[in-house]
Amino acid sequence: MNYRHSFHAGNFADVHKHLTLLAVLDYLLLKPKPIFYLDTHAGGGEYDLSGDESTRGNEWNEGIGRIFNGHFTSPLITRYIEVIHKAQQGAGKLHTYPGSPLIATHVLRDIDRRVFVEMQAEECLALRKLLRQPQHHMVNTTVNHGDGYQALNAYLPPKERRGLILMDAPFEAADEFKRLEQALLRASERWSDGVYCLWYPIKSGGLVNPFYAALKRSGLRNLLLAELSVRPADTPLGLNGSGMLIMNPPWQLDIALRSAYTELLPALAPDSQGSVRVEWLVRE
Ligand SMILES: C[S@@+](CC[C@H](N)C(=O)[O-])C[C@H]1O[C@@H](n2cnc3c(N)ncnc32)[C@H](O)[C@@H]1O
Repeated sequence: MNYRHSFHAGNFADVHKHLTLLAVLDYLLLKPKPIFYLDTHAGGGEYDLSGDESTRGNEWNEGIGRIFNGHFTSPLITRYIEVIHKAQQGAGKLHTYPGSPLIATHVLRDIDRRVFVEMQAEECLALRKLLRQPQHHMVNTTVNHGDGYQALNAYLPPKERRGLILMDAPFEAADEFKRLEQALLRASERWSDGVYCLWYPIKSGGLVNPFYAALKRSGLRNLLLAELSVRPADTPLGLNGSGMLIMNPPWQLDIALRSAYTELLPALAPDSQGSVRVEWLVRE
């Protein structure tokens, strides 16, 4: 496995994924009780946008680069941009992009518990170092080197009984959709009340269709599809859209996401080739 997220950090899919993650976390944090947060595919936590790998494809130019200085009315977009601005630590201009662990760390409280799992030793070490820095350091935090899918067995159900599981696999393996679906099924047998966010790519060839079909057949309920595409789904090669399957989404999250994505779309896909889809795959 040689996936490196730094090539993609801050691209349109990261914008969509992290805005969605933040929205779900903010809803969960409205209540004072502690939550459990598990990020099964955590990555290195922070990406230098002027580094070798980020500048090779410059994908962030068509993602966060398009909206960092923009003005939006959706509170979800404004909130996301505010967190990305904070991550620049006073630099004013965009030079670094926070991964999901840093985004979560920005909003979680000391009473909440965080577990990050990362398979690649180098990325895992980078994340450990990052979270030891005083500005990011928080109590109740564990960084594990290993398989995030296995961690679901070890950590679920959590004693807090409220929380969010993010599964953000690299989709390098041909059977990743299948693994993701099976992981969700196993996890929900252990803990059916958790909020689960599963990221998936939308590419040509309809690879995502068997995933939808399997989930519909699975018996799982309360499944929301939250997708933003910058090109028609059948455009050959490349990533056309970014999807998040959300199980047990907070009440009215679908409405807030649809409105945020609709405002975001012209900024991320200025040629009007994109689309937004927020709909129930299976209702409650
Ligand atoms: C898409 S990246 C994660 C990005 C991160 N969630 C973020 O939003 O900033 C996927 C990560 O999963 C790691 N990975 C791949 N297979 C894994 C597994 N089975 N368990 C845990 N991590 C894995 C890769 O090394 C990579 O860092």
